[in-house]
Amino acid sequence: MYRLVQMIREDLSNAREHDPAARGDVENAIVYSGLHAIWAHRVAHWLWLRGFKGFARILAQSTRFLTGIEIHPGATIGRRFFIDHGMGIVIGETAEIGDGVMLYHGVTLGGQVLTQTKRHPTIEDNVTIGAGAKVLGPITVGRGSAVGANAVVTKDVPPEHIATGIPAKNRPRGKDEKIKLVDPDYYI
Ligand SMILES: CC(C)(COP(=O)(O)OP(=O)(O)OC[C@H]1O[C@@H](n2cnc3c(N)ncnc32)[C@H](O)[C@@H]1OP(=O)(O)O)[C@@H](O)C(=O)NCCC(=O)NCCS
Repeated sequence: MYRLVQMIREDLSNAREHDPAARGDVENAIVYSGLHAIWAHRVAHWLWLRGFKGFARILAQSTRFLTGIEIHPGATIGRRFFIDHGMGIVIGETAEIGDGVMLYHGVTLGGQVLTQTKRHPTIEDNVTIGAGAKVLGPITVGRGSAVGANAVVTKDVPPEHIATGIPAKNRPRGKDEKIKLVDPDYYI
């Protein structure tokens, strides 16, 4: 119970850190569909790992209906995960997401094959993925990297790189991009 409360507090403070529009914790807990989606996913993942797969899928689908964010209960997601805006996000069953990752609306972490293998991406710590980006296949987006809005990524992105375009091309992050790729003061 103590861990649960700690986790909720951490998620709320993470929301404040990532969104300049965020105000009080109570309001954020009520209005942020990204928070609702991750909280529901943690329950659904817990059920999934204990063999209650049907209940897990029902919870995930109900959350999708309410938030527009579809996270398969099998997906592994770390701490301080933040989804801004949210609508249209799809995260596949074998996706693995590290700590401190941020996704905008319209992101797909999808597969390219229909076999029951690891077929979705691995997103390492502190990665930001811009609105509408599609990251496809069992590839890795390295820690501290960013994927630009609307990019289509089908190959690994090395750590501390930026991937933009279709198909995405990687370039190293500049020195001045080390702290914040998306300055919350400049977007809505
Ligand atoms: C990819 C991104 C992280 C790059 O940020 P940056 O390093 O500050 O990039 P810059 O603005 O300096 O642009 C560098 C070059 O990349 C291009 N570029 C930037 N973002 C791009 C994108 N998403 N797709 C294609 N090219 C892009 C710029 O036009 C510029 O090209 P140029 O060198 O030919 O002039 C950022 O542009 C981005 O897409 N962030 C996601 C933001 C988002 O989804 N916001 C949603 C808020 S609701």
